[in-house]
Amino acid sequence: MAVFPIRVFGDPVLRTPAEPVEEFSSAYERLIEDMLETMYEAPGVGLAAPQIGISKQIFVADVGDGPFVMFNPEIVETSDSWAFDEGCLSVPGYFWEIERPGFARARGYDINGDAIEVSGDELMGRVLQHEIDHLNGMLLLERLPRRTKKQALRELREAALRSTGP
Ligand code: NI
Repeated sequence: MAVFPIRVFGDPVLRTPAEPVEEFSSAYERLIEDMLETMYEAPGVGLAAPQIGISKQIFVADVGDGPFVMFNPEIVETSDSWAFDEGCLSVPGYFWEIERPGFARARGYDINGDAIEVSGDELMGRVLQHEIDHLNGMLLLERLPRRTKKQALRELREAALRSTGP
């Protein structure tokens, strides 16, 4: 297994909608193991393939009751509302209170190409929405109110400038 470097804010792969997986095969087993190891090492509760530079519709997650993977997932139902201090491995060190639906249900496929459904509220609902946003080329910044987003983008750009020098 291997731990991948995680792509961070500013990397264009994070803004690119990921390609659906057309052929399911055991060739993905190794990738899934590496994604899980990368996620646990970070540590995080979810990781989408674009975050390691692979623009495919795959994410892994573990909110505390065991790891799972979804291929080509989509949100099919949401309800309620929940405010939560949300972070992202691709925007390290930042947390924002973001309000989203509290419950989410997602449909997708497992590694064999069999249809699966995953649903939950609170952290599970949040992870499903957050990871599927990644696969649509969207970071959590897009979920911030306009003024907070503007401020956050300014801070992130300044931090990026500091880290790369003048
Ligand atoms: Ni994220």
